[in-house]
Amino acid sequence: MPALANAKTVLTGVKPTGAPHIGNYIGAIRPAVRLAAEHGRSYLFIADYHALNAVQDAKALREDSYQVAACWLALGLNPEKTVLYRQSDIPEIFEIVTILSAVTPKGLMDRSHAYKAAVDRNKEEGKDADADVNMGLYTYPILMAADILVAQTDIVPVGKDQVQHIEFTRDMAGYFNNTFKKPVFKLPNYQLESGVAGAILPGIDGRKMSKSYGNHIPVFIDSAARRKLVMKIVTDSRRPEEPMNPDDVGNNVIFQLYSHFATPDETLGMRSAFEKGGMGYGDAKQQLYDVLEREFEKPTQIYKDYMADRKKLDELLEAGAAKARQVARETLSAAREAVGLNRLK
Ligand code: ADP
Ligand code: TRP
Repeated sequence: MPALANAKTVLTGVKPTGAPHIGNYIGAIRPAVRLAAEHGRSYLFIADYHALNAVQDAKALREDSYQVAACWLALGLNPEKTVLYRQSDIPEIFEIVTILSAVTPKGLMDRSHAYKAAVDRNKEEGKDADADVNMGLYTYPILMAADILVAQTDIVPVGKDQVQHIEFTRDMAGYFNNTFKKPVFKLPNYQLESGVAGAILPGIDGRKMSKSYGNHIPVFIDSAARRKLVMKIVTDSRRPEEPMNPDDVGNNVIFQLYSHFATPDETLGMRSAFEKGGMGYGDAKQQLYDVLEREFEKPTQIYKDYMADRKKLDELLEAGAAKARQVARETLSAAREAVGLNRLK
């Protein structure tokens, strides 16, 4: 790791949207935990005010927010190194939204992919263009920019769908800095989440694993439930003794999932057993179950322990917020001063 990379600040926001599956883990959580560990300063926050645009159920929002915190802690996030907090505990963010709103053209929001997608959907369904679009969805990019700019972020790891948000954030930071002739906001860069070479994990029916298809294996479940889901993976009618050609092995759902959790030697072992013939799907599923159990049994227990101790989670999140507010207050003070207002007392 070059020293320079270590000096950078990396920031990620996670919307509280329910318990993760093993695809989320490989594609998003594990890479973010690793990236956070590599950098000098890292922030990870629960984007609860972003969620409010869609989740309007107090109990669900509260519960989901605890779930996110417990999930990341259980999966290796070190709260001594990474500042973990709730967005809603950082009031400075929302004042920055007001400041950025003054320099952000409405047209920028009109070009937002998320907003445009909602409008297109409405039109397709013959509804009014803005049906069910609240102002929170419409101005989502400004809140996201404030999340990022408040912490003087260098790098934001994102999925492809979030790239435009980072570009908008740079635009807004630039409008502000140019208008007030002060470099108050640092322009962030995005880093595309590549997971394991951009891998997309298949679900138990062979399609992309996704909560919306109901074909997922949750990370935090008990061993019996995990086993049952693995045994449900759809397979063809090949007989165990038949050798498989290398391409078919590569496309096999059991093998694909296995390769993400097994060691390179174990992966080679399963591959050659399939290619030679003699490896039945039942055996392969058992091996997959074993590596999943090895990976997630302990985190599942840690997750359960955290979820049973909300006081502990609150303490951790409050300590994180106190740290995040130091940089937030500094940034907000600089912005207020630049526009002609008082610094925070
Ligand atoms: P879901 O499709 O289950 O609703 P999300 O769309 O909420 O999942 O995705 C959350 C994160 O997890 C994203 O960063 C996404 O890239 C990653 N992810 C989702 N499904 C997979 C998958 N099957 N394989 C790898 N990564 C995934
Ligand atoms: N918009 C992101 C998502 O839908 C969540 C998010 C909110 C975020 N604020 C952020 C991500 C700041 C990175 C940085 O997944």
